[in-house]
Amino acid sequence: MSKVPVLVTGGAGYIGSHAVLALKDAGWHVAVIDDLSTGTREVVPEGVPFYHGSIAERVLVDSIIDELKIGAIMHFAGSIVVPESVEKPLDYYSNNTVASHGLVEAAVDGGVKHILFSSTAAVYGAPERVPIEEEDAKLPINPYGASKLMTERMLSDASVAHPFNYGALRYFNVAGADPKGRSGQIGKGSTHLIKIAAEAAVGKRPHVSVYGTDYPTPDGTCIRDYIHVSDLAAAHVAALEWLTGHPDDNLVMNCGYGKGLSVLEVLDAVDRHTNMPVKRVMEGRRSGDPPELVAANAKLLETLDWRPEYAGIDRIVGDALEWERKLAERNARG
Ligand code: UFG
Repeated sequence: MSKVPVLVTGGAGYIGSHAVLALKDAGWHVAVIDDLSTGTREVVPEGVPFYHGSIAERVLVDSIIDELKIGAIMHFAGSIVVPESVEKPLDYYSNNTVASHGLVEAAVDGGVKHILFSSTAAVYGAPERVPIEEEDAKLPINPYGASKLMTERMLSDASVAHPFNYGALRYFNVAGADPKGRSGQIGKGSTHLIKIAAEAAVGKRPHVSVYGTDYPTPDGTCIRDYIHVSDLAAAHVAALEWLTGHPDDNLVMNCGYGKGLSVLEVLDAVDRHTNMPVKRVMEGRRSGDPPELVAANAKLLETLDWRPEYAGIDRIVGDALEWERKLAERNARG
């Protein structure tokens, strides 16, 4: 297997920075492009070439591909907040679909051989059954999911006409932080449950709102499949290895552990890690939340040379809390 130089878009963001760490740890040469709209430079490891700019800047992207002889792109850059996508759909189509089009075009023109795309469980919308299989209906219920699904389709069509192959990894709920403490979620306007609960646990928030207690689930709260960000990052490295070894095939797969947990079960796990329970405030449903999302992950387990290392909510929450404490100490020092 040849280890081509890899460009990571959004490599200063939450998942992208963990992918950079995993690639480096596995011996790949990596460069990062990020516009720092939500990411931070400090989570990009020293020695990794960093380009401050947008993937929509074609001249910049072309020059990086050319100068570094980029052979693969891991594409994380994009907008990811579901409710915001409902308020600003055109921004989402712009950042997630149009910008991806420019990137794919630059990749094709620059002779890039592999593209690994950050997709989402949101492409399935509100599924009729769980666990969700990759072939199940893709009927997104928000512009975020639709903007990602359009990019999947674009990659699929382009890979037929041009000499590259692609992977689209559909993430379920990504949480936790690098077990070595090198990266984690920074939290400019956090919306994700485990991040919010970690912030509450360190006193950054007075409570956690529980959005909806009347769902058709055993305890009435929504069920999600939480995956540790470092396991997800390792799946990206395994997927890239697979793509380089199967140049004529593409890879579209769910990334989750295949185990669902309710909002209350997640908060129970947080309480197991802290001296004082996090205050819970029961509220009405948040719009657009499907009751239950759980991945069928047989394809992931059977196709890739990958096994979860950090599975289990206690591990995920423990690492998220460790990172949050580190951020809190740093803020306290000013
Ligand atoms: N929740 C709360 N309180 C909070 C935050 C979240 O009760 O303060 C609940 C939500 O209502 C939901 C669950 O916790 O039931 C998980 O919510 P998150 O915001 O953490 O994550 P989502 O499931 O909404 O979103 C995730 C990904 C998206 C992806 C989506 C697929 O983050 O990128 O799954 O539906 F699109």
